[in-house]
Amino acid sequence: MKIEPFLLERWMTRHETHVKFDIAESGILPLSTHDLLQFEPDDARAATLESLLHLPLGYSEACGTLALRSALAATYGNVSPDQILVTTGAIEANFLLFNVLLDAGDHVIAPYPAYQQLYSVPRAIGCDVSLWHVGPETGYRYDVDALERLVTPKTKLIVVNTPHNPTGAMLSPADAARVYALAESVGAWVLGDEAYRWLSVPDGDPFAPPVVEMGARGISVGTLSKPYGLPGLRIGWMAGPPDVIRRCWGMRDYITLSPGKLSDALACLALRHHDRIVARNHEIIVANLAAASRWIAEWRGVLSWTPPRGGLLALLKYDLPVDSLTLADALATEHSVMLAPGSAFGYEHHLRLGIGQRPDIFAAGLAEASRALDAWRTPRR
Ligand SMILES: Cc1ncc(COP(=O)(O)O)c(C=O)c1O
Repeated sequence: MKIEPFLLERWMTRHETHVKFDIAESGILPLSTHDLLQFEPDDARAATLESLLHLPLGYSEACGTLALRSALAATYGNVSPDQILVTTGAIEANFLLFNVLLDAGDHVIAPYPAYQQLYSVPRAIGCDVSLWHVGPETGYRYDVDALERLVTPKTKLIVVNTPHNPTGAMLSPADAARVYALAESVGAWVLGDEAYRWLSVPDGDPFAPPVVEMGARGISVGTLSKPYGLPGLRIGWMAGPPDVIRRCWGMRDYITLSPGKLSDALACLALRHHDRIVARNHEIIVANLAAASRWIAEWRGVLSWTPPRGGLLALLKYDLPVDSLTLADALATEHSVMLAPGSAFGYEHHLRLGIGQRPDIFAAGLAEASRALDAWRTPRR
């Protein structure tokens, strides 16, 4: 397989370990094992810790423990544990699904801009990929009429990602039903990349049901990375028809084999405290969204945005005489601030902002970004 470089990942790895103010990050402030244990009732905490310390670190059940698959299945309306495959992040679930469902020459529709995997992997498989625009040209909204014009009798897969990375766009429940019906009308699958599930913003849009709940052509992909702040566990999953799950599991035998045993156990612990974690995330989002809105208002005339309707991300448009890679590199190397270059998503004069950082670091990052932007107001180089 020949595959295009993953532009955002290449850029992030250049800076993410050095900068003080990472406000490009796609996730929410991570939790520690200690934080998870603190969520346990006082009389259960010591026993939970002991069970983690004594867990034999052998190979784990290949498709995820029954306990974890049951807890994940219970987050959907109509899904049983044998319809869940636990994977190494949502990224592995997506990769397996593309490889199992698609052949060279198949027609695929994927959002654009997007988490690059969603269109680059189908392209690498040799598919004919149509891009469904959800950027500035459509006001950062999903336009289902535009999707309808892309669907053909040869369409094999429609990829949706809601809340959307990088724009924060949301597919409404009615539009999601239309997308599903369009796919069904031509016998296509719908892959719902729901990595930003459960991450709502104040006055945001309502969430559509996960696509796996819509019918037999729907497959949902989820993760603990974004909505649980646990990307280091590398626990994702897919929820779909048993046959698709079996075929993906068969391919996974050649790749990562099984989830990490300790990660599986910590994921079970985290899922028990879903409500606490969602509430904690919401506090971070409320604080950072308010700070970002104030900051962008201060920069009226230079910065503009459509605030996220859900999730953690938005694209900021800027009016300065500098391309986005030069600006993002200067922010990172000279000011220790990470804002991702729009060019990594195919959109010049944009920067991607993430609102999941610790609020004091987020606010300090915006203040430092102001100093950097000031320097670019008058061309200096
Ligand atoms: C839309 C989307 N899907 C999937 C992933 C992969 O997440 P993970 O593999 O950490 O679960 C990401 C990560 O940024 C993402 O933004």
